[in-house]
Amino acid sequence: MKFVSKKESITSLSTPCLVLPVFSQGKQAYLTEIFDKANNKQIAAVLKQGDATGKAGNTLLLQMPTGSKTKRVLLVGVGEQGKTTADDFNKAVSASINALKNLPIKAICSALLSVDVIAKDGEWKVHHIVLKSREALYQYTETLTTSAPDASVLEKCQLLTISDYSAKEIENTAATVSSIANGIDSTKKLADLPGNICTPTYLANTAMALGKKHRSLKVTVLDEDEMEKLGMGSLLSVSRGSREPAKLITMEYNGGPKSQKPIVIVGKGLTFDAGGISIKPSSAMDEMKYDMCGGASVFGVMQVCAELDLPINVVGVVPSSENLPDGDANKPGDIVTSMAGLTIEILNTDAEGRLILCDALTYSAKFKPDVVVDIATLTGACVIALGKHATGLLSNNDELANELLDAGIKAGDKAWQLPLWDEYKPQLKSNFADLANIGGPAGGTITAACFLSRFTEDYKWAHLDIAGTAWRSGAEKGATGRPVHMLSQFILDRC
Ligand code: BES
Ligand code: MN
Ligand code: ZN
Repeated sequence: MKFVSKKESITSLSTPCLVLPVFSQGKQAYLTEIFDKANNKQIAAVLKQGDATGKAGNTLLLQMPTGSKTKRVLLVGVGEQGKTTADDFNKAVSASINALKNLPIKAICSALLSVDVIAKDGEWKVHHIVLKSREALYQYTETLTTSAPDASVLEKCQLLTISDYSAKEIENTAATVSSIANGIDSTKKLADLPGNICTPTYLANTAMALGKKHRSLKVTVLDEDEMEKLGMGSLLSVSRGSREPAKLITMEYNGGPKSQKPIVIVGKGLTFDAGGISIKPSSAMDEMKYDMCGGASVFGVMQVCAELDLPINVVGVVPSSENLPDGDANKPGDIVTSMAGLTIEILNTDAEGRLILCDALTYSAKFKPDVVVDIATLTGACVIALGKHATGLLSNNDELANELLDAGIKAGDKAWQLPLWDEYKPQLKSNFADLANIGGPAGGTITAACFLSRFTEDYKWAHLDIAGTAWRSGAEKGATGRPVHMLSQFILDRC
């Protein structure tokens, strides 16, 4: 959907549908009032009747008389006048798109910018109209033959201008957020694909295709032989139990000056995690197709950088493998040697994410990074600690941690910091190797990060555990596209 600004009197709009905010109490928004005066106070009557409630997210579609230039009006509730919260506004945007997306309507005109939202400005409103609309329009179609999407989807949304945010500002913000939404959609599409389609080779091919589409992206894929030569014994030990060959995907975007050190983002691309010999229980195991969401988010962010032509250097690295039980799979007690030279005792083959990430993190040093951020569905413990609302954040640098936390707040894609204290590190002691790959049940998210921290001592690094935030379970099962927005905001803030 394309978002444009529209500077015109609300009473003379030629549009298939006008989206008009209504309050549950108090005087109506000024655009709604003006429109209603010119239309026999019909809206006031409908509100009085109680058909539209004005409650945040409540919608009512009105057909206008034959011959009207405005064919339909969608009344959408935004809560009590003067008390519209950010959440009310978001609900109203989502509900209005949901109410219209299956109708034969290609374009709409929205008056939602005329609503005052507590503590939010015009930029925030445009940002969230685009974001929430795009979220409501997202549809997974890849492997569906029966419920193919309606051909006539919404294509265009005009935003009626307001006095304190210019038409130009509206369009600039809408363009930036549209690109972020494109990145989020690509991440979700990739993540929602099943493990038998989205293999490490599929991800590698997707990266090559992205590189073809955007000339500014330089894509390289290392195969197992090349990784062997680099000494990536930890990563390769995980893929040995699978028939699908592992891939190490690199996407380099150089929009900044040559002398500028890049941001490196490293995403766990485990295309299916059965646990290996330490096999997982069967319940909800299908969701382990989402164990590549960190990798998928790297794809999304690289796409955002390329689409927006950002003046900055960013490198995306995605180590990709399956984790399956097999005669050649890692066994508990096996010891492998990482690219960094550290030996690792694999006490649980299900703690495989850190095994593929550690070699990718060592490899990342070759880009002489300013900072490295890894993104991974790393621990079930993170879901227990933070639930599905906050991404876990751990870092060896507080300044970097704060930058990411701030970006998360701005983007509404929040993280919460956990400690990475030395006190936790002895939990990874092994009698037979330099470190063990698990640290016991206590503080599982922290000890996982402690493991990674052994491989990131040479640069500023942050780790995002997205096990709770990357996808939803149950009836709403599907990828969320997090933390593409947080990372895009983090990069934009650095531009
Ligand atoms: N991919 C999982 C983490 C995960 C579990 C994400 C559940 C989302 C939901 C990871 O590879 C894993 O299996 N971690 C183990 C580590 C444990 C063996 C120390 C876990 O969390 O159980
Ligand atoms: Mn696992
Ligand atoms: Zn995993």
